[in-house]
Amino acid sequence: MTDKLIIFDTTLRDGEQSPGASMTRDEKLRIARQLERLKVDVIEAGFAASSNGDFEAVQAIANAIKDSTICSLSRANDRDISRAAEALKGANSARIHTFIATSALHMEKKLRMSPEQVLEQAKLSVRFARNLVADVEFSPEDGYRSDVDFLCRVLEAVIAEGATTINVPDTVGYAVPELYGNFIKTLRERVPNSDKAIWSVHCHNDLGMAVANSLAGVKIGGARQVECTINGLGERAGNCSLEEIVMAVRTRKDYFNLEMNIDPVHIVAASRMVSQTTGFVVQPNKAVVGANAFAHASGIHQDGMLKARETYEIMRAEDVGWSSNKMVLGKLSGRNAFKQRLQDLGIQMDSEADTNAAFARFKELADGKSEIFDEDILALVSDDSVTHEKEQYGFVSLSQHSETGERPQASVVFTVDGKEVRGESDGNGPVDASLKAIETHVKSGAEMVLYSVNAISGSTESQGEVTVRLQNSGRVVNGVGADPDIVVASAKAYLSALSKLQNKADRVAAQG
Ligand code: KIV
Ligand code: ZN
Repeated sequence: MTDKLIIFDTTLRDGEQSPGASMTRDEKLRIARQLERLKVDVIEAGFAASSNGDFEAVQAIANAIKDSTICSLSRANDRDISRAAEALKGANSARIHTFIATSALHMEKKLRMSPEQVLEQAKLSVRFARNLVADVEFSPEDGYRSDVDFLCRVLEAVIAEGATTINVPDTVGYAVPELYGNFIKTLRERVPNSDKAIWSVHCHNDLGMAVANSLAGVKIGGARQVECTINGLGERAGNCSLEEIVMAVRTRKDYFNLEMNIDPVHIVAASRMVSQTTGFVVQPNKAVVGANAFAHASGIHQDGMLKARETYEIMRAEDVGWSSNKMVLGKLSGRNAFKQRLQDLGIQMDSEADTNAAFARFKELADGKSEIFDEDILALVSDDSVTHEKEQYGFVSLSQHSETGERPQASVVFTVDGKEVRGESDGNGPVDASLKAIETHVKSGAEMVLYSVNAISGSTESQGEVTVRLQNSGRVVNGVGADPDIVVASAKAYLSALSKLQNKADRVAAQG
């Protein structure tokens, strides 16, 4: 008999915890729609009690997504759990995921609670959550480094209180596959009521073993839920990557013998969307979603591939969505074709005005660029000048002059709360001059911690997509801007990051 493996995606919660990966409500909603197309079983949409922004994002996702279970994280206290339940009210299927640390180190140093207090708190929280929703997941944070006897007591108690999923995090990425697999097996064997819950794995990638550990938790330990993120996004070195775990289980069905709901053809689009939204570039040699994952450069490999593709390929590129990387629209394409393509890409504009603005931008782009790829469209809608999101700063126009041997000059017109201002400056290069021109008005005091330019579809005709990461008073935000002119793209990205710095409410850290 074949068991089912539940795919629990936490890109919007654990993934968003990576410094600089914070997303707006609308960005999260767009990604949630793509996860629904992927047929992810559970979407962890955020941590509702951490900030008003997160509450609204969880709520919007719960209201919009119908085919996946929507989950909110919450610490093990009544206030967090009530906030989670409230945000999840509109969901077809809702889950509360509550957690408390169980390792001696975390209990003593972080929580300053005794093991007995933690046990009591865990029980009360699951009991409270079960009164609000039927589907409750419990995680003993730093579970893998917890004392196994104590952990068994906690897990038995929370299952007795009605926890339906037990997730065992390797919070700090310390595990190795065989040991982690056996750890899950031991817990399942020793907890008397273990058969009343689904067991789940949640592995961080600090030693590069998150996927291997998760697979061992499934194979050796018998876990039937994997927590993962698109592109392996997550705290520090990230989480188990969704695309890798899914394709490993699928490609090696002979070994794992597990079924999944996932429709992998949407994987590449999901990867691009997450990368473009967060500005976290996918390395070319990344398994499954890297640009080179299916490229064969050496003569011997190419020759083998031409004779029989199985000689060097264990998966088909088109099965994970690489074939959709084709020209989709051009300058003669009409509004309906454009709208259809947005829909195919899982992008829903909030109003006709937003669609019109995006279409106008598309026409402008298509005038100078003969082939419009999916990436161009994704970049275009990530561009804040066409989304409806309320931005404090908006790009209007830019002119700059640079000449060999001369110091570049730039003049940038932008809006501050709707009012136009012009800034002028020189700089080391045209980009530097433009950003300094903006700063003559804004005087943000922010430090730039990352500036990157990426050619969206590979040629010099391509749009340049710029990511700017700014840090100020402990907050880190990303701004993304796209334009065929990389100086303009840079100014847009910078203004977007400044707006986010301004808007972003302080939030409570999940593992703080
Ligand atoms: O890594 C971790 O321990 C977590 C928990 C909050 C589940 O993300
Ligand atoms: Zn985690």
